[in-house]
Amino acid sequence: MTAALVDTFGRVHRDLRISLTDKCNLRCTYCMPAEGVPWIPRPELLTTDEIIRLAEVFAGLGIAEVRLTGGEPLLRPDVVDIVRRLAAIEGNDGPLRVSITTNGIGLARLAGPLADAGLERFNISLDTLRADRFAALTRRDRLDDVLAGIDGAGATGLRPLKINTVAMHGVNDDELVDLVRFARDHDAQLRFIEQMPLDAGHVWSRVDMVTGADILAALGAEFALDECAGRGADPAQVYTVDGGPTTVGVIASVTAPFCGSCDRVRLTADGQLRNCLFAREESDLRGLLRSGADNTAIADSIRASIVGKAAGHGIDERGFTQPDRPMSAIGG
Ligand code: GTP
Ligand code: 5AD
Ligand code: SF4
Repeated sequence: MTAALVDTFGRVHRDLRISLTDKCNLRCTYCMPAEGVPWIPRPELLTTDEIIRLAEVFAGLGIAEVRLTGGEPLLRPDVVDIVRRLAAIEGNDGPLRVSITTNGIGLARLAGPLADAGLERFNISLDTLRADRFAALTRRDRLDDVLAGIDGAGATGLRPLKINTVAMHGVNDDELVDLVRFARDHDAQLRFIEQMPLDAGHVWSRVDMVTGADILAALGAEFALDECAGRGADPAQVYTVDGGPTTVGVIASVTAPFCGSCDRVRLTADGQLRNCLFAREESDLRGLLRSGADNTAIADSIRASIVGKAAGHGIDERGFTQPDRPMSAIGG
């Protein structure tokens, strides 16, 4: 087996994002309609054994990091077991490093067990600190559960603890400074994200988007920000706040795409491989698995998918359209 996933642009892929479920206990307006979306039928979801088998193949191809996503990954009943089994897989440079991106609900109870199972770190989504806004944005009155989850994650001692905030005009753009202070008080790194055209309603607008430049202008009026070097394949450009040690990140996926250094591949909860968040085509690894294919055939399919990866997401190119699959079924 060739031990590297290299595309035609020379990008080496080391980071696998695995969506454990497309279901979620929130209904963020920028992600899902109030009624939800047609969920992936249960027989089509990868079983835990299938996830582990595929992760082993990916590890043999040079994947070093696995990030669990959703929907909401904590809704998968055996998420702790999945972490334990993934963290025991040997990659080319040691055991797989396993992290999770979660909305935080349930983390008050699960953070400790996840850490004990070998999780390396947590990224938690939080768009507002105001209960009324949280309820309007997510259509669920659960801010307290998320805050308890952040405390639970913090108590594990795993760092860096990251908080993801999608910045939106008229929703939370007056809270950016408060969110940075909140993160600082929780020994966490706040990362502001430009909204991408992956919303369920297809109403995303390039013009209405809060840009990385807007975010930096708002923060710069309150804090002294200094750009940190050595970004690598990290989607966030990171800055120290008032000389540090607190840092803040900006993920400007739209206005400053990081596609040129992308090292990611994505496995959906129904076992489809996506070589990009915005990929138009998927490779059916579940079908291969269930047809009895051996690991060599699965690895060949993964390599072929990577070879077909486009240079970038093309959001600003003529004729761009959103992928059919909603964000909640891709995993962010
Ligand atoms: P770290 O390993 O902590 O840097 O995590 P991450 O930032 O890669 O993952 P996370 O799930 O926290 O995602 C934060 C934001 O970055 C979300 O809005 C993701 O959709 C976005 N993101 C993550 N990976 C990619 C990517 O490959 N391309 C684009 N365009 N956005 C991405
Ligand atoms: N654009 C950018 N980020 C998004 N997220 C969800 N939808 C979008 C979008 N349209 C974020 C979530 C979560 C991460 C997985 O992706 O807030 O933090
Ligand atoms: Fe759930 Fe995340 Fe989508 Fe919000 S953004 S509805 S938390 S999957």
